[in-house]
Amino acid sequence: MTHKNSPEKVHALVWEDGCLRMLDQRLLPAEEVWLECTDVESVVEGIRGMAVRGAPAIGIAAAYGVALAALEVSHDPDWRDQIAAHVERLAQSRPTAVNLFWALERMRQSLAGCNSLGIARSVLTAEAVAIHQEDAEANQVMGRLARDLMLENASGPFAILTHCNTGALATGGYGTALGAIRSVWDAGFLSRVYADETRPWLQGARLTAWELLREGLPVVLNCDGAAAQILRGGEVKWVIVGADRITANGDVANKIGTYGLAILARHHGVGVMVVAPSSTVDMSLPTGASIPIEQRDGCEVKSIQGKTIAPAGVEAFNPVFDVTPAGLIDVIVTERGVVRRPDMSGMARLFNDQASG
Ligand code: MRU
Repeated sequence: MTHKNSPEKVHALVWEDGCLRMLDQRLLPAEEVWLECTDVESVVEGIRGMAVRGAPAIGIAAAYGVALAALEVSHDPDWRDQIAAHVERLAQSRPTAVNLFWALERMRQSLAGCNSLGIARSVLTAEAVAIHQEDAEANQVMGRLARDLMLENASGPFAILTHCNTGALATGGYGTALGAIRSVWDAGFLSRVYADETRPWLQGARLTAWELLREGLPVVLNCDGAAAQILRGGEVKWVIVGADRITANGDVANKIGTYGLAILARHHGVGVMVVAPSSTVDMSLPTGASIPIEQRDGCEVKSIQGKTIAPAGVEAFNPVFDVTPAGLIDVIVTERGVVRRPDMSGMARLFNDQASG
């Protein structure tokens, strides 16, 4: 099914009468095709196959997957176990973004309070819709906080460099890092955005450039390897990225290449800002060393958009996330507030309630 997003608003996920409509991000920007997910398996496939991607969007999709599970299972005495098995299946779809597990845990807790399948069907749907809406609202809050922080010392417009896609496509709406960038633009302080192309999936080239162009923001696309040269130029004041998991000491897992960017930024005196909702914070892990890093097939490195670019016999290494140590991050912005020079105590101040016992 082909459908055009309205020029004003981009959506990755739309829930309509027991159907999760998922914009197939693999086909952007060439085509806007919507997948119609009416069972759990299609949601699992959508997440694993990256039709939907971006940490918050994966969590939201998984929550709707649980709502679909409740609609799918029959009125057998073990209906609760059947839904729980579907939750387990959703949990296997991708390993790194903690938003997936956070959303599934919220859905599990909602399920626990339901006495009948009929009640579970409406409660789980409502909970998934709430997770979706809360994420969009959190992004608006983070956008304002990030903007105010950046304008503290700004005497005029400045450029921002970003990595991967953290916009409406990756979230419930507006975006995390891209939401911060939108807020600076609305305040009149953005000269331009440099968007890393983000090999191998090209989220920057295909998705970030698409989102920003359709809203008329000044975006310049660059190869990942051009970032050092751009930062040396002095126009960029902030590197702003999202996150897939932030641990108790402030280490940040994000799209592969983020760690290198943070090193470059420190070398050139450019600020590093991470913008992520509290659903991305995992206080159960002390440091980033314990974050499971997804490894995908090497063929993704050996080809671009299905066209082979490397000799068939070559081995390829394809970790799709890396961990940036907290010491390289100037500030983490969440909807609960801001953690400057993140460390264990700064994180605990905002996220004590998420710490495991
Ligand atoms: O592999 P992806 O496209 O799911 O990776 C996405 C990222 O790494 C994003 O930067 C992160 O999820 C933050 S999105 C708001």
